[in-house]
Amino acid sequence: MRGFFGLKLTVAAALLASTTMAVAEDVEVLHWWTSGGEAAALNVLKEDLATKSIGWVDMPVAGGGGEAAMTALRARVTAGNPPTAVQMLGFDILDWAAEDALGDLTTVAAAEGWDAVVPAALQGFSKHDGKWIAAPVNVHSTNWVWMNKAALDAAGGKAPETWEELVAVLDAMKANGITPLAHGGQAWQDATVFDGVVLGLGNDFYKAAFIDLDPAVLGGDQMAEAFNRLIKLSTYVDANFSGRDWNLASAMVINGEAGMQMMGDWAKGEFVKAGKVPGTDFVCIRFPGTQGSVTFNSDQFAMFGVESDGAKAAQGAMASAIMNPTFQSAFNVVKGSAPARTDVPNDAFDDCGKKAMADLATANDSNSLFGSMAHGHAAPASVKNAVYDVVTAAFNGSYVDGAAAAAALATAVAAAQ
Ligand code: GAL
Repeated sequence: MRGFFGLKLTVAAALLASTTMAVAEDVEVLHWWTSGGEAAALNVLKEDLATKSIGWVDMPVAGGGGEAAMTALRARVTAGNPPTAVQMLGFDILDWAAEDALGDLTTVAAAEGWDAVVPAALQGFSKHDGKWIAAPVNVHSTNWVWMNKAALDAAGGKAPETWEELVAVLDAMKANGITPLAHGGQAWQDATVFDGVVLGLGNDFYKAAFIDLDPAVLGGDQMAEAFNRLIKLSTYVDANFSGRDWNLASAMVINGEAGMQMMGDWAKGEFVKAGKVPGTDFVCIRFPGTQGSVTFNSDQFAMFGVESDGAKAAQGAMASAIMNPTFQSAFNVVKGSAPARTDVPNDAFDDCGKKAMADLATANDSNSLFGSMAHGHAAPASVKNAVYDVVTAAFNGSYVDGAAAAAALATAVAAAQ
């Protein structure tokens, strides 16, 4: 036994040495982190790599949720010229791995012991056929609501814990003359809100609908109720919501023009960038009815298959830098997310960050941690896109009621599989 592990380690060390001995080339990084908060977080990564003499060639493709970035990636791969490293989510990583397009990070991962510190839920998307194919930089979650503190105080001051209380606060904000719900009408944003709405009707319901894709549940009474709630929420947005970028919706909450935004915790990156403080300027709560549960998405950097030793060395060095615990703390404090490793202290994080980390641990221990449908961690892109279509149509009033939307969802998801 001992000899076997000893041998394995020796081989791993030799492999790592041969890769790192080559001079690391620049890394070309495809990503969609273009908002103020996202760019600030990306800078933490760029600067970290610069200290290791790894140059950065930027390939930003704007568009939250990464759909446009994934289209750009496909074009680059088809042209035979993939970028060195790509920000990627959930099932997209596994799809590219199945196409045999990704490089192998197992040598670095083994040398640094990633298996022991990355939560199993994340490893499910970082590994394929037993090999590490991506380095997770964070854990975001989608079931959050970001509220302007003064607007909440003017609306009674009590953060809503149930759907009924949420509606009461939205009504009070409306009566106070502000836009109750800051929202950008883009399919991925509609779907992000819907993650929280569906989870708010129960863990079992979320799992049966979005993880198991049970047709009876997708088209059933609870899904009809979920859509009725989404349709209700659509009555609280302003007239100019259509097409608005998510960070502009965050800005409406930051400047008090709107009361709240239902968005993943990358929104906190915008509040922090604007110098706002949780508990003083803004309040972070879990989507009412989802306390203790989490719908997560983890940004990972997948490395595409490259030929030269220099490019391979750069990929290994970048992956190693991403997984460094000190870096994970510095980066995620700015990004709004939780670290992707379980051994990072929470000292540097603000109250919302500490809550994110605690909620993740609780959800993980109580079978209440689920992949986000909106952000590619519940089902492959074909299903996700089918869900997007129906959710967006519902948000924009295409169905007579929630039951009609639920029936459409069951049909669309069945067709997408
Ligand atoms: C998510 C991604 C986040 C954030 C967000 C908005 O898909 O995981 O890191 O960038 O999109 O752009």
